[in-house]
Amino acid sequence: MCGIVGYIGYEDVKEILLGGLERLEYRGYDSSGIGILNDQGQVSVFKDLGRVSQLRTIVDYEEKASIGIGHTRWSTHGEPSKNNAHPHQSKNGRFTIVHNGVIENEDILRENYFASFKFISETDSEIIVELINYFYELYNDVELAIRHLMNHLNGSYALGIIDSQQPDKLYVVKNKSPLLIGLGEGFNMIGSDAMAMITKTNKFYELNDQEYAILTRDSISIFEITGAKVTRDYFITNLDKDQVNKGTYPHYMLKEIDEQAVVIRRIIDKYSDKRHERFIMDQNIIDAIKDSDRIYIIAAGTSYNAGLVGKQLFEKIANKPVDVCVASEFVYNQPVLSQKPLFIFISQSGETADSRAVLVNVNKLGYPSLAVTNVENSTLYREATYNLLLHAGPEIAVASTKAYTAQIAVLAICAYLTVDVKEFDLIHELSLAANVIESICDQKEILKELASCFLRDTRNCFYIGRHVDYAVAMEASLKLKEISYIQTEGFAAGELKHGTIALIEKDTPVIAIISQEEINLNTRSNVKEVKTRGANTLVISLKSISSESDGFVIDDVHKLLTPLVTVVPTQILAYYAALERGLDIDKPRNLAKSVTVE
Ligand code: F6R
Repeated sequence: MCGIVGYIGYEDVKEILLGGLERLEYRGYDSSGIGILNDQGQVSVFKDLGRVSQLRTIVDYEEKASIGIGHTRWSTHGEPSKNNAHPHQSKNGRFTIVHNGVIENEDILRENYFASFKFISETDSEIIVELINYFYELYNDVELAIRHLMNHLNGSYALGIIDSQQPDKLYVVKNKSPLLIGLGEGFNMIGSDAMAMITKTNKFYELNDQEYAILTRDSISIFEITGAKVTRDYFITNLDKDQVNKGTYPHYMLKEIDEQAVVIRRIIDKYSDKRHERFIMDQNIIDAIKDSDRIYIIAAGTSYNAGLVGKQLFEKIANKPVDVCVASEFVYNQPVLSQKPLFIFISQSGETADSRAVLVNVNKLGYPSLAVTNVENSTLYREATYNLLLHAGPEIAVASTKAYTAQIAVLAICAYLTVDVKEFDLIHELSLAANVIESICDQKEILKELASCFLRDTRNCFYIGRHVDYAVAMEASLKLKEISYIQTEGFAAGELKHGTIALIEKDTPVIAIISQEEINLNTRSNVKEVKTRGANTLVISLKSISSESDGFVIDDVHKLLTPLVTVVPTQILAYYAALERGLDIDKPRNLAKSVTVE
């Protein structure tokens, strides 16, 4: 979702902003822009619809300037257009801002302060910049104007602000939307995430909600909304800037699919003793799981699908009851909770606004929580009682792949560590699964052909499965629909005949996942049912229960870990289906990587 970058220093700001925006592209956006302030107090704004590469072609700026802000916009208020793209300026040209978030009391603010004012754009952001100007004219003090602004805004906002009269200051404000400050030598930066700034610095300050900061080239001052100064240590991220490029791969998604075996091995390494003989984890987390009478997994999208597998793992390994809840539903429709709940938030980005809204409530209610996330110091990571990292490395492709398998592996370790008597060796089983993932990734040519045969021209497609294969079918269909735009659903195989089978017509692709012995025959008879009605069927199965006609057979892994391997061919099928259609695989239409609005 929207991305922000800002810089104040001595270097050429134009290139730093454009480079930062390119590294934020993965978050998803439809337009982009930059605003540059020169030493004479002139602000130049360049913005356009489309990619940052398009923006590059219109940034015609040769002056020396070293303060500026940039933005990638994912539309919420107003259509994607040049006019609605950021930065936005106050009409008198004094203030220029970039904004990420949604202002909930926009209508009231318009009515109270700007009843007859003619705004240029349709955005809520333009109100913000005019309000800063309004309060500045009232109090003649920019900091005071910002504090008044914060007191008047309801909703989420991360703001980068430049004042044309102060070419030595960059202002930044945060509430609910993510924003980091990057600490440099002779420069300072702001960014929606570390990625935007990683080529310049690995030292960051976090800003909490309802805080603002003033950056100069040599200083960073953070304040509460009251104006009280905050002292805070910076943190160092171990994000490796070389991980943030795709090397020789044509797409990040393919690279990230291939990385999954390495990620599982890294997880084993990070969560086990030196000799990789036993898993180790913060005892407080293990106790929190043991002490709870029910786990509530809260997540969205792919992370929710990983949660469905997590439920199986906790229930089967640790006999612990689990509810898996869609975050955006839970927040407004909280079920009756058990006596001693533990909330587990699963999120690749650690920034998903829907999940965070639940965490805010959970914290208010005083319940313990665990964030399982890929991004250290992300909002969920910071705000949950406990946290665990996925160690998957940056996931850039919008379609999540390695984070999903990493989430399952980490949840398996959590469940495993809460039982005293271990019935199998999870380190060994996860290592085997990593090997199998590798061998699947070596068979891309076969999967490419299957994608061509089953998915090239189709309008729709169904994934089916029973038991844990149903959970994987849900993820497989999400992956396929989001990057190939094929209309697809994941169904419980046994449910087909209760309605959905009406949709099967000649050549409708139906892909079945079969990994569990006890459902093997039943799912196969569902495959027959659809085949009889004309469906083009493909079975993905595990070797020990495979049949000769199966389209893709995978080596066996432990029965609780099958999702780690059965999902991989479906990710590769989705990739090649999108490739055949010539689509923008890493940045599918309308989607954002980090969904920071509710
Ligand atoms: C799909 C995908 C999304 C995310 C969802 C939650 O490939 O990536 O469905 O899983 O937006 O995001 P996180 O995991 O960052 O909370």
